[in-house]
Formats: sequence, structure tokens, C-alpha cells
Amino acid sequence: MGEFKITVLKGDGIGPEIVDSALRVLDKVQELFGVSFEREEALIGGIAIDTTGDPLPEDTLKRCKDSQAVLLGAVGGYKWDNLPTDKRPEKGLLRIRKELDLYANLRPAKVWEPLIHSSPLKDEVVKGTDMLVVRELTSGIYYGEPRGIFEEEGKRVGVNTMRYTEDEIRRVVRKGFEIASKRRKKLTSVDKSNVLEVSGLWREVVEEEKKNFPDVELEHLYVDNCAMQIVRRPSTFDVIVTGNIFGDILSDEAGVVVGSLGMLPSASVGEKYALYEPVHGSAPDIAGKGIANPIATILSLSMMLKFSFGMDEASELIDKAIERTLEEGYRTPDIYSEGTKKVGTKEMTDRIIKNMEG
Ligand code: IPM
Ligand code: MG
Repeated sequence: MGEFKITVLKGDGIGPEIVDSALRVLDKVQELFGVSFEREEALIGGIAIDTTGDPLPEDTLKRCKDSQAVLLGAVGGYKWDNLPTDKRPEKGLLRIRKELDLYANLRPAKVWEPLIHSSPLKDEVVKGTDMLVVRELTSGIYYGEPRGIFEEEGKRVGVNTMRYTEDEIRRVVRKGFEIASKRRKKLTSVDKSNVLEVSGLWREVVEEEKKNFPDVELEHLYVDNCAMQIVRRPSTFDVIVTGNIFGDILSDEAGVVVGSLGMLPSASVGEKYALYEPVHGSAPDIAGKGIANPIATILSLSMMLKFSFGMDEASELIDKAIERTLEEGYRTPDIYSEGTKKVGTKEMTDRIIKNMEG
């Protein structure tokens, strides 16, 4: 009988609905595995701005640091779209990543056999695709200084800086190798070393780290070429490791290649903390309608059980229950196709929970 503590950040838009679904799945895990999770809720994003004036209140950060893992729904919505960038809900997300030092963002993209037709690619191209993008999350051009809009000789100039120290590169690259060595043992490192010095250093560090992982096959790709190969031969990728902005772009691409954004979970991990969230956003257009797809959030919970609590068996049980529910033909509207059964958030969750019972 274990006692675990998680912080729950529902956020905005469909966030509360999909997180509630995941928490119901967690209830089932408690029942089946005889563990208990203490859950503390806190505010982030637009709702936190409305309540406290800050997208990431001090209290939220404190609670996150005081728990073993964080489960997050989504942030943002029309209401806050016109605020300046440093006051927006998204800033809460960028700050929590930095404050918790969540330097490695794991974004798996695999094709679910029952949904293979929802990929924009031909079935035979996408078949068997199962890749994981490891994106550096707390440095690079998102955070580098100098940054801003300045004036030079009466004209405005916009500046951002792509900067990486070798230690920042090394820790995320090592994470990539470690994960690859537990999967199909293939790592693709993505950079732009034909143009950027920072990428030249990236590639050097990757080569140094390779020596510690002799059984992992390593491939280097330039980011533009990688974008092309993900569409041409998605099933040949195992783990991709790359910097912050390249990973932002490539993980969206990998996501669309395998079918639906509503199916993509993510984990953001550091040495001490970990945060789990669906890749899709707050979808304000369908918020409160009971039709959001809860699967990405439930899969994020599954990643949490595996990576933060070592509960591999519970994680597999959830993934299998989802697969079975899809095989039975249940679909939320975002993944619906003719001949399948359209259900809302609650029924989809009920079906998944039922399938966990065997
Ligand atoms: C993501 C998103 C964020 C990012 C935005 C919302 C700040 O696109 O998590 O991929 O760029 O990191
Ligand atoms: Mg993104």
C-alpha cells in the first residue's frame, strides 16, 4: 500500500473535463492496485490570472515542488488572447517548465491501428509508426538572451538568441540515449549544424555521449531534412532528440502523421520533478460541451504511472484498455469516422474504465 502525492492543474477550456476523466481512471488504478494517490488542486493559466492576477501563482509552484508529479490539463482561451506575451496564460506554462527544471519533454507519437485511416498519409507509409520526440524544454531560443524588440537607427529590430551550454545539451541527449536503449535502440539527433554554431556544438556533444551507449544506433539529420523524412518514412524513427524550437515543430509534425492530436500525451521531466500533459491545447471552442477527447490526458496519466511511480503494469493496463475501446468502435467527435460509434467525454471514459476490469 503506497502513498503518493500529485498536484492537479486543470487549467482552462477543456482542461477541467479531460483531467476529471484521467482522475476517474486513477481511481480505478487505486482500486485495482491497492495504492493511494493524494491529489491537490492548484491554479494555472487564464483561471489563475482571473483569480490571482498571475498565470503561475507562487502557491501553485510551491504545491508542485511539494509533490512527486504534476498532472496538467491545458491553458489559454479567447478571453486572454489580447494580453501582452508576458501576461498570457502560456507564460504560466513556460515558467513552470523553467522553475521545475523540466529539461526533457517526451512526446510519443505512435499510430493506433484502429485509427490508421485518420492519418493524412497512406496506410502503408504510416503503418507501424512508433516514435518518441525528446525535446529540450528549458533553454535554446525560447529563453536565450538578448531578446526583445529594440530600436536601431530609428528602425525596430526583433532579437532572439539560440544558446545552449554543453551541459544543457548533454543532459537531454543522455536522456535520449537512455530512452532509446530501452526501446528499439535507434536515436536520431536533429540539428542545423550546416548553418548554426550552436548546432555544431550540439552534434559534438552527441558524438561524445554516443561512446557511453555503444548499442544504440545513431543518425544525425538536419532539421529540414528530418521534417521531410518524418513524412516519407515515419515508421523508421525510434527516438528523436533535438533542441527546443526544432522539437516544438517536429513534435507537431509527428503528431499529425500518426492521426489525431487528441491522442497525444507528453511528459516533461527533470532530475527532481515531472509534469504530464496532453499535447493538444485548451480547445476553447468545444469547452464545456462534454465532447472533448480525454485519451491524450489519460495516456499522460499512464506515462506518469510509468515514469514517476514505476507502475509499468498499471500503465500498460490503461494503454490496452484504450486500444480495446477503440477496437470496439467508440470515438469522440475528433476521431469519428463513418461506421464507428460517436460518444462524448464521459462515455469514452466509462468505456475505458470498464475495459480496465478485463
Ligand atoms: C507546446 C506549445 C508551447 C510551446 C506554447 C503554447 C508556448 O506549442 O507545448 O508545444 O511552444 O512550447
Ligand atoms: Mg508546440
